[in-house]
Amino acid sequence: MADNNSISYHTYTPTDHASLNRDEVLDFLFEHLDEYGDQRQDIAKCMDYALSDAEGKGGSVLVARENDKVVGALILNNTGMKGYIPENILVYVAVHGSTRGKGVGKQLVQMAIDLTQGSIALHVEPHNPARKLYEKLGFTNKYLEYRLTR
Ligand SMILES: CC(C)(COP(=O)(O)OP(=O)(O)OC[C@H]1O[C@@H](n2cnc3c(N)ncnc32)[C@H](O)[C@@H]1OP(=O)(O)O)[C@@H](O)C(=O)NCCC(=O)NCCS
Repeated sequence: MADNNSISYHTYTPTDHASLNRDEVLDFLFEHLDEYGDQRQDIAKCMDYALSDAEGKGGSVLVARENDKVVGALILNNTGMKGYIPENILVYVAVHGSTRGKGVGKQLVQMAIDLTQGSIALHVEPHNPARKLYEKLGFTNKYLEYRLTR
């Protein structure tokens, strides 16, 4: 656990997540991802994957708390690949509406960078101001993403 003023940061991994209240973090992400979110069941799948100890899976769930209340959360998945596909994908990050602009998002993404090895991919909508945060931490967007949705 790391502290920054009254905000504490917690890391949960496949080998260390017994104390994680999954529903609390899922509810938080579902609410505070705003229009950039997914269905709760999809966020739950992403969290299950991050905390799985199955071969090729895993990742981390990072949680920021203030006075015991969740004010920020991030989920990172390992891809199980390397080189031609980045080793990690940062799937979700959100900060409580009333806590934004205080560095919590940056701290969560920096922690994800520090605790993983290899490259990190992420998707962001072209008009999402979160792009600024990623760019400040060194992410670049060389590629456009196309997807065949079915
Ligand atoms: C994106 C999000 C997580 C950022 O969290 P945050 O705690 O407000 O961000 P921070 O305060 O740590 O900001 C970090 C840096 O990014 C910049 N930044 C963050 N949000 C920004 C915004 N909306 N507009 C402009 N710059 C922004 C800040 O200026 C800051 O730069 P600095 O370090 O030079 O001061 C938060 O706005 C959020 O939850 N948004 C809704 C969900 C979302 O869009 N998630 C990302 C999906 S890809």
